[in-house]
Amino acid sequence: MTRANRLILAAGLATGLLLLLSAGCDKRAAVSPPAPAKQVVAAAETQAELPVYERDIKPLPTEQCARCHVKEFTNIKKAGGKHRIDCVRCHVTFHAYNPRTDNYADIMPKCASCHQSASGGAYHGDEPALTACLNCHADPHQPNDIPMSAVEPQCAKCHTNEAGEVAANPSAHATAVGCADCHSDSHGRIPQCSDCHSSHSPEVSMQSKDCMGCHPVHKPTRISYPNTASQQICAGCHADVETALKGNLTKHSDVSCARCHPNHKELEPCSTCHGHPHNSAMMQDTNRCNECHGKAHNLAAN
Ligand code: HEC
Ligand code: HEC
Ligand code: HEC
Ligand code: HEC
Ligand code: HEC
Ligand code: HEC
Ligand code: HEC
Ligand code: HEC
Ligand code: HEC
Ligand code: HEC
Ligand code: HEC
Ligand code: HEC
Repeated sequence: MTRANRLILAAGLATGLLLLLSAGCDKRAAVSPPAPAKQVVAAAETQAELPVYERDIKPLPTEQCARCHVKEFTNIKKAGGKHRIDCVRCHVTFHAYNPRTDNYADIMPKCASCHQSASGGAYHGDEPALTACLNCHADPHQPNDIPMSAVEPQCAKCHTNEAGEVAANPSAHATAVGCADCHSDSHGRIPQCSDCHSSHSPEVSMQSKDCMGCHPVHKPTRISYPNTASQQICAGCHADVETALKGNLTKHSDVSCARCHPNHKELEPCSTCHGHPHNSAMMQDTNRCNECHGKAHNLAAN
């Protein structure tokens, strides 16, 4: 073969290859557009017409599982919460229970395959009481239905902040009642103070959040209040003082209790508000002011 011939042959081969390639492209192009709807129906009909062992077998969809497993389907439908996902996402293996090998536990879905703690351990931590998931989430088909009897002994393991606060501030809310006496009936329920207490200052209408303004509920003896706190609340227990203040109109009658007693049982010195009305010698002994000015609650008294 001459050099020229070889070149022609090479060119011919290249063209042939090109033709072949483009033909291939054309073929693919001819197949790729979506088939018209009619053709799809026809294909399905053909599937049904095929002998049974020639047909494609499709996995059972959730609505098919539901035909036999009405209880599980209904539970998820009503109260599945975020578990309203296809059955087979959890039940990768099913209808494989064999009483002889007793493999029930092996084939059931594992919580840990989807739920882990940030560090890759058990979801709520490795504490043994928190790793037996089904003790609390008794039905995985309604995972938020958690019996109180199961969580009751474990509050402190999950709520370390609140439990620590209660323990660090001894009060009747640690000794006379426990977490589950207040957060009763269902996990997370928030009680009202009025479930257990009547108000010491019924003149003032108060909701739980008003009570908690003075008594943080997990440390109720740590009382604090703003200097705008209503006199009538104090008067619920110190009616005599209110009577003295209001019964004898003086310039102290309109000063709020909380401004002179900013912390319960404590007293602000006269000088906080009055500076030095008298000479220093006189100002040294606050106990003697009332020799001339009566009592703070009744400046006119003598
Ligand atoms: C979020 C995961 C999850 C989903 C979704 C789920 N399951 Fe389950 N299912 C489980 C687990 C875990 C168990 C094992 C419970 C146990 O050991 O008590 C279980 C148990 C079962 C059982 C056995 C019950 C028994 O009494 O022995 C059946 C039947 C079942 N599931 C059906 C279904 C069906 C049907 C669906 C869909 C409608 C479904 N499951 C969806 C996790 C799931
Ligand atoms: C034609 C009825 C039928 C259908 C459809 C069906 N099951 Fe079952 N399934 C049964 C029967 C019967 C049992 C054994 C008795 C029982 O546990 O209720 C069973 C048992 C189970 C069990 C527990 C025992 C085991 O071997 O796994 C699971 C889990 C389960 N089915 C999941 C499913 C899932 C998921 C689907 C859908 C993908 C499904 N089933 C569809 C009838 C059915
Ligand atoms: C196949 C994966 C899968 C498995 C297995 C699984 N879960 Fe879930 N679970 C989910 C998904 C997805 C969510 C939604 C998560 C989200 O939105 O953050 C969820 C949410 C939850 C929730 C919150 C439900 C809600 O409505 O807020 C609980 C509780 C829960 N899972 C407990 C469990 C327990 C207990 C098990 C074992 C019995 C388990 N899960 C098994 C996938 C799974
Ligand atoms: C001692 C009881 C108890 C055990 C054991 C337990 N849980 Fe929980 N779980 C709870 C409580 C209570 C909640 C909070 C529910 C709520 O928000 O009202 C919760 C919430 C969840 C949530 C919802 C997401 C969230 O943080 O609010 C998931 C997911 C979950 N648990 C998975 C698991 C897994 C997985 C296991 C096993 C490793 C498990 N739980 C063991 C009591 C428990
Ligand atoms: C397994 C861990 C776990 C246990 C045990 C547990 N909790 Fe919770 N709890 C949670 C989770 C998770 C939340 C949701 C937290 C969030 O939304 O920030 C929660 C929320 C709460 C809330 C707040 C509800 C709201 O409306 O904000 C209260 C109250 C509560 N739990 C009280 C308790 C008490 C009381 C106990 C014991 C009887 C308890 N918990 C046991 C995990 C747990
Ligand atoms: C005297 C009743 C009472 C007791 C006892 C009590 N709580 Fe509470 N708890 C409440 C009230 C009321 C609230 C709502 C507080 C608020 O709205 O600021 C609350 C709030 C909570 C919250 C939600 C906090 C938040 O920021 O959302 C958790 C968690 C909680 N308590 C856990 C506990 C635990 C754990 C214990 C036991 C160590 C406990 N509580 C004891 C009444 C109580
Ligand atoms: C489940 C019942 C219950 C609930 C709800 C409850 N308490 Fe109490 N509380 C008690 C008991 C019991 C005592 C001790 C007896 C008493 O002083 O009445 C107590 C005592 C107190 C004390 C005195 C504490 C001490 O150690 O001397 C204060 C303050 C108090 N509660 C405030 C509140 C406030 C505020 C709320 C609402 C946020 C509230 N309580 C909700 C049961 C409850
Ligand atoms: C302005 C602040 C303030 C408000 C608001 C307040 N309290 Fe008090 N409470 C006090 C003071 C101060 C005491 C006395 C504490 C002492 O004896 O050391 C007290 C005592 C208590 C006690 C102890 C028992 C008793 O009667 O002596 C209970 C229980 C109580 N308060 C419940 C409540 C409830 C319930 C509410 C809401 C209806 C509430 N408090 C609102 C300041 C307040
Ligand atoms: C629930 C009842 C109650 C309420 C409400 C209450 N106190 Fe008291 N207060 C008491 C008790 C009990 C004492 C202690 C009396 C004693 O030691 O003799 C006291 C003592 C005092 C004392 C100190 C008395 C002394 O002899 O040193 C002052 C000041 C005082 N309270 C101011 C207030 C103020 C201001 C308010 C309103 C913000 C208030 N109280 C609300 C019950 C209450
Ligand atoms: C202008 C400041 C001032 C105001 C306003 C005031 N107090 Fe006082 N309070 C005092 C002083 C000062 C004492 C110490 C005794 C004295 O010098 O009168 C005192 C004593 C008390 C005592 C001890 C018992 C007694 O009567 O001596 C109680 C309780 C008390 N105050 C409660 C209240 C209450 C409740 C109010 C509001 C109704 C109130 N105070 C308003 C300054 C004030
Ligand atoms: C929280 C602030 C406050 C405290 C503390 C206080 N006062 Fe006053 N006092 C007042 C106010 C406000 C007036 C009225 C001033 C005005 O109208 O110019 C007043 C008025 C008076 C007056 C009358 C002055 C006049 O012009 O007639 C006397 C006297 C007086 N105070 C004495 C005292 C004594 C004594 C004490 C300490 C036991 C005391 N005060 C503590 C706020 C306070
Ligand atoms: C020896 C008697 C006496 C004593 C003790 C006394 N005062 Fe006075 N104070 C007076 C007289 C008199 C006035 C003038 C009366 C008037 O203007 O109404 C006065 C006026 C005041 C005024 C009003 C001043 C003004 O600028 O309007 C204040 C506030 C006051 N005294 C506070 C005090 C305080 C606080 C003490 C204790 C440290 C005190 N006094 C002790 C006799 C006394």
